[in-house]
Amino acid sequence: MVYTMKIKPTKHERVYLSYLNNQKNILTENLTPGTRVYGEQLVTSENKEYRIWDPYRSKLAAALLLSENEIPPLIWKHVLYLGAASGTTVSHLSDIIKNDGYIYAVEFSPRSGRNLVKLAEERQNIVPIIDDARKPENYVGIVPIVDLIYQDVAQPDQTHILARNCQTFLKNGGYFILAVKTQSIDVTKTPKTVINEQVEILKNEYDLKILHIIDISTYQKAHSIIIGTNA
Ligand SMILES: C[S@@+](CC[C@H](N)C(=O)[O-])C[C@H]1O[C@@H](n2cnc3c(N)ncnc32)[C@H](O)[C@@H]1O
Repeated sequence: MVYTMKIKPTKHERVYLSYLNNQKNILTENLTPGTRVYGEQLVTSENKEYRIWDPYRSKLAAALLLSENEIPPLIWKHVLYLGAASGTTVSHLSDIIKNDGYIYAVEFSPRSGRNLVKLAEERQNIVPIIDDARKPENYVGIVPIVDLIYQDVAQPDQTHILARNCQTFLKNGGYFILAVKTQSIDVTKTPKTVINEQVEILKNEYDLKILHIIDISTYQKAHSIIIGTNA
């Protein structure tokens, strides 16, 4: 079923807001109308089709719903996405970026990678890269200098993976958005302690600046989003 509803703009260009059953939803305009990517709800408004962006499936949606003003701009010429899985969040970025740029989506699981490649066949702004984000040198010839790096890999060394990709690909003054699964790093410490330690690593070992930290545990257990820059 496709609902018809009122859609409002948000601070973020091409990210929209609606209310369904008193629940606040964010949406993106569907780049491939009539097609769902992960079973998401489709809605129409004034002859345009939108996809509800599920905060329980996408950490970026959770961060936007909880703290929209702290998220950097999302429309860029070149975005590097590490830990793309089957493309749930990538697909919404693809809706947002439209034909203004490319999302270089890195995923090392062959199974998820197959779904990602299929998604990229339908969406021309996604460049799928089936490789290990620990080895940025492997995709140096494919990925250009980028404006934004988004990472969601849920690995113990996730902070170092992000930092090495920033060193290799992030333009001077570019942004990063790091989804941290604290339990992947250390289950014996509180999420707050783990986040503080990762922030210190980013600042002291890699000279990166932290702009915001968003606790998204309302939607994603023991997760936070760290936003920063190399400027
Ligand atoms: C939590 S899932 C990502 C979900 C996805 N970001 C989304 O919102 O749609 C983490 C993904 O990172 C991938 N991953 C983990 N380590 C990786 C690495 N070193 N290189 C590339 N992908 C990796 C996993 O295979 C998994 O698909």
